[in-house]
Amino acid sequence: MLKNNSMALKNINPTKTSAWGKLTAHFGENKNKTIKDLCKDPMRKEDFSVVLGDLSVDFSKNRIDKETISLLVALAEEVGLRDAIEKQFNGEIINVTEGREVLHTALRSTSEDPVYVAGKNIKPQIQTALRKIKSFSNKVVSGKWKGYTGKSITDIVNIGIGGSDLGPDMVVESLQYYKNQLTTHFVSNIDGDHVSEVMKKLNPETTLFVIVSKTFTTQETITNAETLKNWFLKSATIFDIPKHFVAVSTNLEAVDNFGIDKSNVFTMWNWVGGRFSLWSGVGLSISLSIGYDNYRALLDGAEEMDLHYRNTPFEKNIPVILALLSIWYNNFYGAETEAVLPYSQYLKKLPDYLQQAIMESNGKGVDRNGDVVDYQTGTIVWGSTGTNMQHAFMQLVHQGTKLIPADFIGYKESLYGLTEHHKSLMANYYGQIEALAYGKTKEAVHLELKFSGDQEKIEKLLPFKVFEGNRPSNAIVFDKLTPHSLGKLVAMYEHKIFTQGILWNIYSYDQFGVELGKELAKKFLTAQ
Ligand code: F6P
Repeated sequence: MLKNNSMALKNINPTKTSAWGKLTAHFGENKNKTIKDLCKDPMRKEDFSVVLGDLSVDFSKNRIDKETISLLVALAEEVGLRDAIEKQFNGEIINVTEGREVLHTALRSTSEDPVYVAGKNIKPQIQTALRKIKSFSNKVVSGKWKGYTGKSITDIVNIGIGGSDLGPDMVVESLQYYKNQLTTHFVSNIDGDHVSEVMKKLNPETTLFVIVSKTFTTQETITNAETLKNWFLKSATIFDIPKHFVAVSTNLEAVDNFGIDKSNVFTMWNWVGGRFSLWSGVGLSISLSIGYDNYRALLDGAEEMDLHYRNTPFEKNIPVILALLSIWYNNFYGAETEAVLPYSQYLKKLPDYLQQAIMESNGKGVDRNGDVVDYQTGTIVWGSTGTNMQHAFMQLVHQGTKLIPADFIGYKESLYGLTEHHKSLMANYYGQIEALAYGKTKEAVHLELKFSGDQEKIEKLLPFKVFEGNRPSNAIVFDKLTPHSLGKLVAMYEHKIFTQGILWNIYSYDQFGVELGKELAKKFLTAQ
């Protein structure tokens, strides 16, 4: 059995490592190399791609060569990434500032290997919790679970915020194609108009409320839950609450005080962080919306990525490579933001979800030693779906003054067919990547304008039509959007986040930065 050790993670300033020094020199010598020139190597795509089952990641269109990768990998080795990954998977207290293990990976593990928390194997409790999700979802989806007037449930309302909302909301939206007959709503904002709009659509007799709050003290969630309970009690009595209200929380006392039946509580654990919790009871609304088997497939996809992350050498390790590339641009090229661009309308909520996962995790300015860092950490993440964003912000990505590395997420197949649409969608996907990488030279623009035959026009328009190119991106392509491939995608980003936190020598799993605003809001509320 592994013993927990509160100082589990190594504490190394990345900028003081020998790899960092070499990377700095390498950057100085190579920073002006162009993607266009680098891609002339016929082996480039093969050398800079990784395939993992139905997923391929082509990172050839980056401002890197083999030496860059090997130096970045050396940096990862030097700061102890391998050791950190093992410590995370084995349940050591790597969330030191909150004194907790970080075990979202255990939630999706199908292996029999034990994982210990405080000396106790947690695998059996995870299986029990999953069985409870399964049996409850089956009852509700099949119509066997009846409301207070004997009718089956038609609507699910997930009440939560942050990690207790964004994950389930993003997954249910992304997997709409796999949805059953139940209508799922999400209430998160304390803005009363949000809950009012949802209430308008509900019938108390056929609605199931899922209150999701790890702490069960979050102002937004508790206020919305009380409002919905009061609305429900206008038509029903407190004795009807067990048929319509369930909770997902670690705070059993607060759940009890709210009036929720003990048998209707889905466990959460302190060793699962809010923004990494969709694999726990927080995923109940997902299981209710797409059925347990699809929910399990989501977990299985995540587990495939977990095994890849844990067992693959860094040079071919997808989350590690993505993390290292992001550090390369953030810390050497000075890029401040990165874009996530899914070419699937289903994934429209992915950028919002990733904003919490990435920015709440790595938005830290103090290192694991407690010292203020003198280098850049967490990147700003933003994005939207293709092709819509091509008609919105892509102008700036192509010709603006900022370097914005981008992840393009695409699928070989669409879900409904309409192959002509899909061909066009993916033609745009590859068109954008190529335009960003190779741009359009002065000569090419000149030639194009020359055909229009107007000399004056050539002189006037030429500078505006040149694309400098050399803008990096990763092509992340899955065969098809399925629960399994979505799980794999989300886990890929989770591991990218952890890898970056380790390299930047920060703690990725606390979020003290959100507290001050909350306290001040309380002060303003009592002063009103
Ligand atoms: O935004 C802060 C935060 O603590 C998130 O980390 C968390 O996901 C969210 O609030 C909701 O917290 P809870 O599940 O305890 O209601």
